[in-house]
Amino acid sequence: MTSYILRKAAADRTGADALVVGVLSSGSSGSSGRGPQIAPGGEAVADAYGKKLKPLLATLGFTGKAGQVATVPTNGVVKSPLLLLVGLGEEATTTAVRRAAGTAARAVTNATSVALALPSDDPALVRAAAEGFALGGYDFDTYRTSDPADRPSDVIVLCEGARRAEYVEALRTAEVVAAAVARTRDWVNTPPGDLTPAVFADAVAATHAELGGATGKRGKNATGTAAVTLTVWDDSELADAGCGGILGVGRGSDAPPRMVRLSYEPQDATAHLALVGKGITYDSGGLSIKPGASMTTMKMDMAGAASVVNAVLAIAELELPVRVTAFAPMAENMISGRATRPGDVLTMYRGKTVEVLNTDAEGRLILADALGHAVEAEPDLVVDVATLTGACMVALGDRVSGLFGNDDAALARFEEASDRAGEAFWHLPIPDEFGEKVRGNSKMADLAQHNAERWGGASYAAAFLREFVDEVPWLHLDIAGPAYNDKSAYGHVTAGGTGVSVATLVELARDLADAPTD
Ligand code: BES
Ligand code: MN
Ligand code: ZN
Repeated sequence: MTSYILRKAAADRTGADALVVGVLSSGSSGSSGRGPQIAPGGEAVADAYGKKLKPLLATLGFTGKAGQVATVPTNGVVKSPLLLLVGLGEEATTTAVRRAAGTAARAVTNATSVALALPSDDPALVRAAAEGFALGGYDFDTYRTSDPADRPSDVIVLCEGARRAEYVEALRTAEVVAAAVARTRDWVNTPPGDLTPAVFADAVAATHAELGGATGKRGKNATGTAAVTLTVWDDSELADAGCGGILGVGRGSDAPPRMVRLSYEPQDATAHLALVGKGITYDSGGLSIKPGASMTTMKMDMAGAASVVNAVLAIAELELPVRVTAFAPMAENMISGRATRPGDVLTMYRGKTVEVLNTDAEGRLILADALGHAVEAEPDLVVDVATLTGACMVALGDRVSGLFGNDDAALARFEEASDRAGEAFWHLPIPDEFGEKVRGNSKMADLAQHNAERWGGASYAAAFLREFVDEVPWLHLDIAGPAYNDKSAYGHVTAGGTGVSVATLVELARDLADAPTD
């Protein structure tokens, strides 16, 4: 475990094994001849190098471009023996700092203590630096037999305001959010045979217990995670409850489905947020089977469930005064003689019937049941999170998630929260005609699960989900692309599961606590 410490100290006189300093590239606005500059936070280091700085950067070919990193022995110029330069690009925004700190974390290979002398004159920057460093250094080594890489045991975040409450709070937020994101990544990265629905539900229960969650009923004066209760439905309980979607999807698997509910009820809650996350522990496509190459990453199809579980736990750890009820339906989409067929009709929780036309569009089926439960909890806002459609990736690429909804105020609120969290979402429409198709295209059931025409597939899926939220304000996040990085690490985003949406959900909860809906 790495501990994070805030300290007001001079960067050049800090004796950590490695010292991280940001470099800004010269901006295009009139300062073209200026060359790269040491970013705020690193002034003392720039002063210590004096005239030698420019030639040093030139020798390294260091322009300050985002993603750049260089390690330099300091030979006594500053107290730390190793200087780590990281490029911030043109401006020291929170996003630039979060990414640069993540890049720095991977470049530090042999240091017990690291000091971050990055821009830190705002609590948001302190949070970005600590969160970025913690996440950039994430490594999933559970299945590796070689020795795990040494991580620093101390990270010192250098900051003028180190003793001020808002900075202390920002560092704590960073630690809690980074831990929640890392747990999400761990679950997403776990091989699908080792994380069946029952195992996933057990893992949630174990984490809930480890963090001090309530056993049985929540205590009267409980605060933080002690105010979080856990409920797990097994397959027979799901059958009793009438969750035809979850059962229909899970039928083809030998590993039966589950649904987990985590309920955080602080006494001082001003608003109620419901979260729903897609928990397909493996998506083979079912009888509408996927081509082999599309199946290799489908262990990540439970990223939405992992995100909402870890978001509610983080919100509770931070003791945010907002009630949160999270539902995580979990099923494995497999093939067998029992599997749901294209053409079958399922009856969802709360009674609507759905004609299944493509068993690979399974996410919307399990979400329908969970959304029904979420709506019954009478929240002010429901947010569902799902690796729902390849179509969303076609539209937005793999670094931007789709955002849909039925409420302009909630959409605006969400977009501000995602900016603060440093996660990219793009609002996409749900055309009226898609609602008409969802309700009109089945010749025999209430709703048609799938549209034969592929255009606008992400919006059709959203239109289907909308049928299950009544008039409750609702947002749908399609994280199919950003949930899993099948390339190499960049910034604070490592390879594999990314934990995307956790940070934004925490920010959204904070915002609802500050300014509840009316
Ligand atoms: N889990 C997939 C969506 C997905 C695709 C996530 C690629 C991440 C990467 C989802 O269940 C799915 O299979 N969707 C289908 C829907 C189609 C049958 C309407 C798709 O996108 O092809
Ligand atoms: Mn699918
Ligand atoms: Zn899926």
